[in-house]
Amino acid sequence: MSLTPMKAVIPAAGLGTRFLPATKAMPKEMLPVVDKPAIQYVAEEAARAGIDDILVIIGRNKNAISDHFDSVPELEDRLKDKGDTVRLRRVLESSDLADMHFVRQGEPKGLGHAVLRAKAHVGDCSFAVMLGDDLIDERDELLSLMIAEHERTGGAAVIALMEVDPDHIDAYGVASVEQTGAEGIVKVTGLVEKPRKEDAPSNLAVIGRYVLAPRVFDVLERTEPGKGGEIQLTDALQALATDPDGPGVYGVIFRGRRYDTGDRVDYIKAIVQLAADRDDLGPALRPWFKEFAAGL
Ligand code: G1P
Repeated sequence: MSLTPMKAVIPAAGLGTRFLPATKAMPKEMLPVVDKPAIQYVAEEAARAGIDDILVIIGRNKNAISDHFDSVPELEDRLKDKGDTVRLRRVLESSDLADMHFVRQGEPKGLGHAVLRAKAHVGDCSFAVMLGDDLIDERDELLSLMIAEHERTGGAAVIALMEVDPDHIDAYGVASVEQTGAEGIVKVTGLVEKPRKEDAPSNLAVIGRYVLAPRVFDVLERTEPGKGGEIQLTDALQALATDPDGPGVYGVIFRGRRYDTGDRVDYIKAIVQLAADRDDLGPALRPWFKEFAAGL
């Protein structure tokens, strides 16, 4: 097994029912967050952590995703002819990011099932699973810390954890943990998918970043359908965390800026926050926000 070079796997085969009808003919990963589709932020995050091979697990309506990461010679030539170098650079950014690969999930049978579809492509390498609903602000470090922890532990599974309001804990995988002595790193002793508030072992929620060794595939192959009748990645990680013969599971506690684009209200908040912070849009938007808020 080799820990590097690491590949990334982005599951993008969900039905996106919360965003219908926008997601009727388009995957939810293509919804724009300001002026980039959500999945491009995730691919950029992978590239910043040094990953240059990305596998996207696609469902129906896959073409929009693969087209987005492809080059578009007619559009590029047109922008070159017009001397529009700024927009040309934006168009090229998505096709130059990484070596993109695509595999179909077929039936959506859960996140664990989607990750299992990456087995052949990932092979004997460690890999990062990155969920498109969770956007991590590029000014805050997470994935590189997780990769460093994966290397330090000789290949343990590493998950990203964040403290969340107990009233929202039932939307997440939740970890029970022990301190390791290292700041911001915990040992995960157990995991449960979407528990009720009163059953949650902590307020530490799994956010959508995982750094895994290929041994997780063997576990996923044996994992029975869990919560919601789906094969859950959380259940496979619970098996790894409680395996006395394996290297276990560690958590990196993230205290930075995370934007949840899987929920409509949070998606709108993400757009507002990211646009307000941008040099090209913020100055025009910020005074308007104040005016708008004053009138509410
Ligand atoms: C998935 C995982 C869950 C995790 C969450 C993070 O759930 O199953 O454990 O906490 O992503 O966003 P989903 O949001 O896809 O229902």
